[in-house]
Amino acid sequence: MKVVMIGAGYVGLVSGACFSEFGVEVACVDKDANRIRELTEGRIPIYEPGLEDLVRDNGKAGRLTFSTDLASAMVGAEAVFIAVGTPSRRGDGHADMSYVFQAAREIAASLDGYTVIVTKSTVPVGTGRRVSEIIRDIRPDAEFDVVSNPEFLREGSAINDFMRPDRIVIGAETERARAVMRRLYRPLYLIETPMVFTGLETSELIKYAANSFLATKITFINEIADLCEKVGADVHDVARGIGLDGRIGRKFLHPGPGYGGSCFPKDTLALVRTAQEADAPLRIIETVVASNDARKAAMVGRVLSACGGNVRGKAIAVLGLTFKPNTDDMRDSPSLMILPRLLEQGAKVRAFDPEGMNEARKLMPEVEYCGSAEEAMAGADCLLLLTEWNEFRALDPRRIKAILGKPVVVDLRNVYNPAEMRGAGLTYTSIGRPN
Ligand code: NAD
Ligand code: UGA
Repeated sequence: MKVVMIGAGYVGLVSGACFSEFGVEVACVDKDANRIRELTEGRIPIYEPGLEDLVRDNGKAGRLTFSTDLASAMVGAEAVFIAVGTPSRRGDGHADMSYVFQAAREIAASLDGYTVIVTKSTVPVGTGRRVSEIIRDIRPDAEFDVVSNPEFLREGSAINDFMRPDRIVIGAETERARAVMRRLYRPLYLIETPMVFTGLETSELIKYAANSFLATKITFINEIADLCEKVGADVHDVARGIGLDGRIGRKFLHPGPGYGGSCFPKDTLALVRTAQEADAPLRIIETVVASNDARKAAMVGRVLSACGGNVRGKAIAVLGLTFKPNTDDMRDSPSLMILPRLLEQGAKVRAFDPEGMNEARKLMPEVEYCGSAEEAMAGADCLLLLTEWNEFRALDPRRIKAILGKPVVVDLRNVYNPAEMRGAGLTYTSIGRPN
């Protein structure tokens, strides 16, 4: 079986490599020639644990190839996946569909024989039908079906999420298309992964509903954390106490500086717009979006109060810049909101992140970037922990105390034990826990 993956980004590259691991012949096509050159030379343009080995092994086996030429890649392909970006459109928060529709036009030009065209990108309700119309207009003769197959992987654990998903969602309207998708996902079907077959609109909405629900869970626990601080309760005990109820579930109840990343912020916003236009407003998601935005900004206040009311001339050591650990992705990271505000207030910001600094340098050139956590912390007036990379969890409180200029720690991921931090002589602020 042969498939084409259009877009060799986080989703396209991981999905392509994983399908090739299933034994499928995969041609990954991207219009970014540099990216394709790197991949052809065995260099992986993104940081994702395990991806390099998977790409190398399947490349050697001849099952995974990279190209900028869609027409040649499509020869003999039974399915073509669209895995291009759908970022927020400037101004109105809708998903920008220009990349998806451009890919549809390019596919139309090269269709030859029955082909299943699969939207793997996160796309608003109605996109599948629009893609179908675009192709039909250009190629009235072509034999094809459009299928929606949203992706639920997380960055940082993408390969495991793809190989062992909780479910696969397939929105398809013909038995012929469903049969192609079943064959493609056969290895997951064999390990009894639930397959949810629906129509196109339902499948498209499932993806937005899932991301918005998860974003709501995080926002809920963040607001509960704020309440815990006021009333002397511990948010982790609250999360465990409610999460053990199977109807609520324990996951995605970890408080933090507000959700970020390339998906929750843009997808919640896009769903709000879709719902408003459909005259079925999702007020709960509108509130989640507003609460999360306000939260990121409010985190700056925590650093200010930990530093005695102002940060002018003070050195703040920031550990972690990416929106979560085990990725180099900086898109909508809370650090992009918090660091510029600290700089505006006159702070000197010295940061370290294991994988995110190349990208961060382009986005925040005023920040001083350090070669290690210790270098960032040396002599600093405050340590601000923003992303919970394992190497930061392992730092010894006594060492932190010895190395900082002032013993002040603001931990926005609750990775340290408050009693141990205090025992080491540090003034420690975390989220939703009694001081
Ligand atoms: P990305 O920006 O990392 O990659 C997109 C790639 O598509 C880029 O390399 C770009 O050059 C390429 N591209 C754009 N138009 C093209 C065209 N016409 N032909 C060939 N290549 C083209 O994006 P991503 O993070 O992989 O996200 C892709 C989609 O998947 C989005 O809709 C996103 O919401 C969704 N998604 C992402 C994740 C994630 O963890 N990043 C998870 C699930 C779903
Ligand atoms: C998220 C979803 O988890 C995936 O299922 C989905 O496929 C993906 O979006 C997408 O559509 O792109 P991802 O953004 O990679 O995946 O990462 P998450 O682990 O979900 O984290 C998102 C943000 O929420 C991060 O900033 C993280 O720090 C924050 N978060 C997560 C919390 O603050 N608390 C939690 O308990 C969980």
